Amino acid sequence: MLTGAGISAESGVPTFRDSDGLWEGHRPEDVATPEAFDADRGLVQRFYDERRAALARVEPNAAHRALADLEAELGDDLLLITQNIDDLHERAGSQRVHHMHGELRAAWCRACDVRIPWERSLADEPPCPGCGIAGLRPDVVWFGEMPYGMDEIHRALFSCDLFVSIGTSGVVYPAAAFVDYAIAGGSETLELNLERASNSDFHVSRQGPATELVPAWVAELTTAEATA
Ligand code: APR
Repeated sequence: MLTGAGISAESGVPTFRDSDGLWEGHRPEDVATPEAFDADRGLVQRFYDERRAALARVEPNAAHRALADLEAELGDDLLLITQNIDDLHERAGSQRVHHMHGELRAAWCRACDVRIPWERSLADEPPCPGCGIAGLRPDVVWFGEMPYGMDEIHRALFSCDLFVSIGTSGVVYPAAAFVDYAIAGGSETLELNLERASNSDFHVSRQGPATELVPAWVAELTTAEATA
């Protein structure tokens, strides 16, 4: 299962590409690249500081909760991969979330390579608790960087029975290609999204808000499992 910004939209977390295609007034590429960080570190740190602080003002929604319920049913048979850097899946109760694009509430020290939970600002360049050097950046994956855990993700995609994509526009690779890998591996594929995504090779596509589609689909699946 793959989730994107659309699953958190109804919690009040802005998506990246809806409406005007800007992300809080910036093109995603202008604040989410190593080059942007090198060119204007303060801008990028402040941008992520604001996103991190905003997490305190949002709550998980019915779609996040339904996926936590599904994990409770399926255990290790469910791999929840999210492109989201928010922590709403965890706060809804999901325990095994694979953040392929990293996490807002984590920092990565470029000096000593340690990754640590982080709640505060990074714009004031605090020293790394590990090495004392002011080398911390948000532990998020930027354009041009390798998403986390791709080997495990590929193995799961080629061996799963069902691949479900929720709330993602399907324009950012490698996640946009996951549906093709799943189909190549013989999986059924389902899309739950407000609109058909651009990589709409799915066997089944349902359009609507995540807070309606996801709980309804989870209820269908768990009822079917119970009667099987
Ligand atoms: N319910 C379901 N889907 C929704 C909802 C909703 N309430 N609101 C919006 N959507 C859909 C939109 O129709 C769109 O297809 O969610 C999708 C959001 O797309 P993007 O904003 O492009 O977000 P995402 O696909 O997660 O972006 C991928 O791009 O910039 C990078 O690293 C960033 O992880 C991010 C990646």
